[in-house]
Amino acid sequence: MSSESLKYDLPARPAPATSARGTEHARLIRESFALVEPKAEELAQYFYGALFVLAPDARDLFPVSMTIQRSRLLRALVYVVQMVDRPDELVTFLGQLGRDHRKFDVLTRHYDAVGTALVSALKRFLKDAWTPEVETAWTSAYGLISETMRKAAAAETGPAWWPATVLEHRKLSRDIALVRVRTEQLLPYRPGGYVSVEIPQRPRLWRYLSPATAPRDDGLVTFHVRSVPGGWVSRAIVNHARAGDVWRLGPPLGALSVLPAADQRPLLMIAGGTGITPLLSILDDLSRWKRNPPVHLFFGGRRPGDLYALDELRRLAVTSPWLTVTPVTEEGAVSGGDRGTLAAAVTQRGKWKKHNVLVSGSPSMIRATIAKLLAAGVDLERISYDPFTID
Ligand SMILES: Cc1cc2nc3c(=O)[nH]c(=O)nc-3n(C[C@H](O)[C@H](O)[C@H](O)COP(=O)(O)OP(=O)(O)OC[C@H]3O[C@@H](n4cnc5c(N)ncnc54)[C@H](O)[C@@H]3O)c2cc1C
Ligand code: HEM
Repeated sequence: MSSESLKYDLPARPAPATSARGTEHARLIRESFALVEPKAEELAQYFYGALFVLAPDARDLFPVSMTIQRSRLLRALVYVVQMVDRPDELVTFLGQLGRDHRKFDVLTRHYDAVGTALVSALKRFLKDAWTPEVETAWTSAYGLISETMRKAAAAETGPAWWPATVLEHRKLSRDIALVRVRTEQLLPYRPGGYVSVEIPQRPRLWRYLSPATAPRDDGLVTFHVRSVPGGWVSRAIVNHARAGDVWRLGPPLGALSVLPAADQRPLLMIAGGTGITPLLSILDDLSRWKRNPPVHLFFGGRRPGDLYALDELRRLAVTSPWLTVTPVTEEGAVSGGDRGTLAAAVTQRGKWKKHNVLVSGSPSMIRATIAKLLAAGVDLERISYDPFTID
């Protein structure tokens, strides 16, 4: 269970309104979980064993081979429960998550079974450290979270998922493929958001993808997918997806957006690798507006070959005088580009205090970039990234 994949340690936003009890519960949850974290694998095994005894039908909701991602739900659960002292931020995310969970065919009673399994697993592994205070902290946090998810799911009248037919599949680079799909019913995502995707080659293994295009009336959605070494779904998409396949797309999620719509401050966009996709979607959207704020986009990769979307971005910049694109590579030069890390290149090129900032990429890239921006005096309130993406 690595903090890297869970993005625990992204910079915290200024403390939101929270109760003293919420803070105390969050502390107890974090401290008690730290005690069992070294045994996370066994805890997960016990948790799923208990869950499938309590609700045998829930087994069918999970992938056939549980070894592929045994701790995905448990990992996510623990991550979310630890955020209980940040209710303002959690509520939007949990609403989206609850609506999204309808795609798994989750029933109300499954929430109770998951809660009971979680508590019994923690109790078993925490032993004497499972005090009445710790129990109250976990049960009340889980109750709050599951209630918020359940309510949002119950209130949702839209589809649990959208069928999407693959129209085009082509390689953009050795390990990145563009996939264009069409949904019959429009998928109501926001530019910069993301959706979960299930492909016929990998049933029940849902993965998040960010559309690289803005929502449009013809139902077309374009994805860029990078094949991750050893990756179950990304490799199947890049190497085996083909026209005619029918994918399932979950309800839209995501908090990355151009900060206040009426705010015409200049925009600084910073993207690493396929982190460019939500920003491409926002640029696609911006290019349809009559008036745009000036946008400076830094697009970074280790080598020039990693900047797979650079030609497309440069074409867009030619027709969009409001857009400036700066490529950044760590090894090897790109014409008109900067050498070094994204964080260093961005802060060397300007002050950015007047800008709204969007950052998209790996957790480590987001962390490093935001740290540099904060040190350069940029206000955290002006920086947008998806704080709750759980992979
Ligand atoms: C909000 C969000 C938006 C995303 N948008 C996109 C997108 O537009 N395009 C895209 O290609 N991907 C995107 N991803 C990543 C995607 O969801 C998958 O995690 C990724 O494709 C790997 O899935 P997999 O099944 O192939 O790998 P898995 O089988 O889940 O993992 C296999 C191995 O690869 C490692 N791994 C998992 N993800 C990565 C990674 N990103 N880099 C390096 N190693 C990894 C795992 O730790 C594991 O060891 C997004 C993720 C999030 C959270
Ligand atoms: C109430 C607290 C819950 C939280 C915070 C939560 C959160 C999450 C998150 C963040 C993920 C990973 C993202 C994803 O794959 O979409 C996930 C996956 C999943 N969740 Fe939940 N969930 C909760 C309850 C439940 C319940 C009650 C069920 C039903 C049994 C359930 C079933 C699943 C399944 C099947 C997956 C996919 C697992 C996999 O791919 O291995 N979840 N959950």
